[in-house]
Amino acid sequence: MIEIVLATGNPHKVEEMSAIFAGLLPPNAIRLVGLRDLATMLKITEPAETGGTFEDNASIKAVEYTRQTGMWCLADDSGLEIDALGGRPGVISSHYCTDGREAGMNRRERDGANNQRVIAELAGVSPENRTARFVCVMALSRGLQDRDSLLVRGTFEGRIGLPGEVPRGDHGFGYDPLFLVAPEYRFTSAELPPDRKNQLSHRAAAARLMADRLRSMLPG
Ligand code: IMP
Repeated sequence: MIEIVLATGNPHKVEEMSAIFAGLLPPNAIRLVGLRDLATMLKITEPAETGGTFEDNASIKAVEYTRQTGMWCLADDSGLEIDALGGRPGVISSHYCTDGREAGMNRRERDGANNQRVIAELAGVSPENRTARFVCVMALSRGLQDRDSLLVRGTFEGRIGLPGEVPRGDHGFGYDPLFLVAPEYRFTSAELPPDRKNQLSHRAAAARLMADRLRSMLPG
């Protein structure tokens, strides 16, 4: 069995990823451990996400937590790319309203202000040109000797609705109320039942690709 630390302090994410991998890998192939489980034994410090791409940031986290724990580490970085904005908000998705700076706002306030900024910046852009995608990059660092982490990228395609058409929907978080899901663009990702979003999402796509890579590393 391969023990992998998952670069998250959130126990729910450990459960969610364990459940996804359980459906894709042989029984007991891997065991995911959260940072919180290790914090009782080790002092772990969070690295700054200073990269210019999702790949850079996921890699920084995977390599750094491996350095601190000596274990294999799986880390992810995600966000929204809008074509008409040259790929922004990209790596600063969670703090787009403050140009990527942490300004002491809670998640709800940030999500609202981020969404307003996106809608304002797309003023006058036609529906066809409002294409966007959620991206999730997962990085796996395979121990202290591993200089380059293994990277996979999952995407979830859609477009940003027009003002008046969106925001819509009570599920999800972040940009979900603005994001009309391709190819029909009838529902926002905040209107999808959580189970459905979990099948279609960028995180699910990245997890499937990572499970393929992990499967190829298993003995036998
Ligand atoms: P994180 O790396 O998972 O924290 O995601 C970074 C930011 O990207 C979040 O704070 C959201 O603003 C945005 N984001 C990532 N995934 C989603 C999603 O599934 N729905 C809506 N927003 C998302």
